[in-house]
Amino acid sequence: MSEQLKNKNVFITGASSGIGEACAVAFAREGANLLLAARRKERIDGLTRSLKDSYGVATHGLELDVRDRDAVERTVSSLPPAWDHIDILLNNAGLSRGLVKLQAGEIRDWEEMIDTNVKGLLYVTRAILPGMVARNSGHVINMGSIAGHELYPNGNVYCASKYAVTAISQGLRMDLLGTNVRVSSVDPGLVQTEFSEVRFRGDKTRAAEAFRSYCSVLARAAKKGVIKGNNADRRKSRAMLFLAREAKAHHASATASSNCSRKAWRASFSC
Ligand SMILES: NC(=O)c1ccc[n+]([C@@H]2O[C@H](COP(=O)([O-])OP(=O)(O)OC[C@H]3O[C@@H](n4cnc5c(N)ncnc54)[C@H](OP(=O)(O)O)[C@@H]3O)[C@@H](O)[C@H]2O)c1
Repeated sequence: MSEQLKNKNVFITGASSGIGEACAVAFAREGANLLLAARRKERIDGLTRSLKDSYGVATHGLELDVRDRDAVERTVSSLPPAWDHIDILLNNAGLSRGLVKLQAGEIRDWEEMIDTNVKGLLYVTRAILPGMVARNSGHVINMGSIAGHELYPNGNVYCASKYAVTAISQGLRMDLLGTNVRVSSVDPGLVQTEFSEVRFRGDKTRAAEAFRSYCSVLARAAKKGVIKGNNADRRKSRAMLFLAREAKAHHASATASSNCSRKAWRASFSC
């Protein structure tokens, strides 16, 4: 455990599963206090209890839909005094819906992705960032994606939403110049969470197939030497395979933006 994160207040959106939940565990191990938010309150309650019991950290659960601007503003402005300064904001809540050509896309799916991945992230950031700027201290971490750097077939609107996250992170860095508030983004490749199940509306078989396809394309490409790259690229691709094997995304914070993982990424969605 490093002392750096001990007693810091960390706000994580989308903490009820997958990467957000894994990050909550990782921060709790470091002794950070955790504000955990998502729509599924019972999951958040279970997690806050278990992190408190296991790591002795302070926790506070919030039922929050990041698409609801009024609720975001109300929730942030009425936090109990112990939680009214956020040291680290992890903007993780996000989702994909569907994997179809744009001409066949469901408009309600597009709206849900844009409302959550882009507007929701902005609402939460807008509510929390002024406090960080006023204290001249804080760290915003945005959960992007390799899809925010590289398109894949049928990924159209999800990719667009993650490109927006990339732009927001870069723009925010410029806007915060001269302050001590930092901005980072984490851009994972495919991680086996509930993400694909949500994308395919509960179709577990299709979700598992998407993950298998990604892993097998990556492995085949590496074996055949189709993927060429420098040592750093090879290391990143090994990291991707490692993540794939680990499957449960316990430390899903690897950045996957090497050329080789990008190629596998595109190819797997083309299969
Ligand atoms: N898994 C991947 O392959 C992958 C790759 C790159 C990037 N990412 C990104 O990583 C982030 C986390 O995804 P994951 O893989 O951990 O998927 P996940 O297991 O489905 O988790 C998504 C989280 O977001 C929350 N969420 C969704 N809509 C929300 C809303 N309107 N308001 C509040 N919370 C909401 C969900 O909670 P509730 O449903 O309880 O609200 C859940 O906690 C997302 O931003 C995703 O785009 C994932």
